Amino acid sequence: MELFTAIKERRAVKHYNPSASVSESDFSQIMNAVLLSPTSYNIQHWRFVRVTDGIVRRKIQEAAWEQTQVTEAAELIVLCADTQAWQKDPQRYWANTPEDVQAMMLPMLASFYTGKAQLQRDEAMRSCGMAAQTLMLSAKALGYDTCPMIGFDSEQLAQLINLPEGYIISMIITLGKAEKAANKRAGQLPLEELLVTNRF
Ligand SMILES: Cc1cc2nc3c(=O)[nH]c(=O)nc-3n(C[C@H](O)[C@H](O)[C@H](O)COP(=O)(O)O)c2cc1C
Repeated sequence: MELFTAIKERRAVKHYNPSASVSESDFSQIMNAVLLSPTSYNIQHWRFVRVTDGIVRRKIQEAAWEQTQVTEAAELIVLCADTQAWQKDPQRYWANTPEDVQAMMLPMLASFYTGKAQLQRDEAMRSCGMAAQTLMLSAKALGYDTCPMIGFDSEQLAQLINLPEGYIISMIITLGKAEKAANKRAGQLPLEELLVTNRF
């Protein structure tokens, strides 16, 4: 599917065909596309939890105000990030670059993130947002539907997926085939209201 068609056709789909699956090759193609999304300093701190266990899915649904797409969709992916990835063996983020580049990047990275908890968290959310859009557009391009979701109790979900210390959850995304198309777009604001030239 052409990119602009995928952008127009991607919608937050709430009702899925419970018997439709996502082939392993499509799932892998989507997730490998996700990994090409950009991250600051290329730290790739996103971590993805693919929830295949039906019992856990049901518990996540309970933690997500019983939203039906959580169990109806073929796949459920929790987008998380390791806020401390910037200090975990960081040279591998530039493994293909010359040594002098690595020597320059390492201290830059450390001084950028050290002691800045809010920035570490913001960065995680930014990166997961990038990953989410790649996931949803790649899925659409292959004929699947998705729904990004924040309607859940984060602490309950963290327990259910055994979220490690220092990690945060950004959102969950359902992936599958629509049973019922999304409603008409709720109301798009005009570009003139949203695009400012040079300054507010
Ligand atoms: C971060 C985020 C969280 C969302 N959380 C939920 C959710 O919990 N449940 C839901 O049904 N839709 C959720 N949505 C879907 C939005 O309602 C939807 O994207 C928006 O209304 C625009 O519709 P569209 O995506 O079909 O264009 C979420 C969307 C985003 C981006």
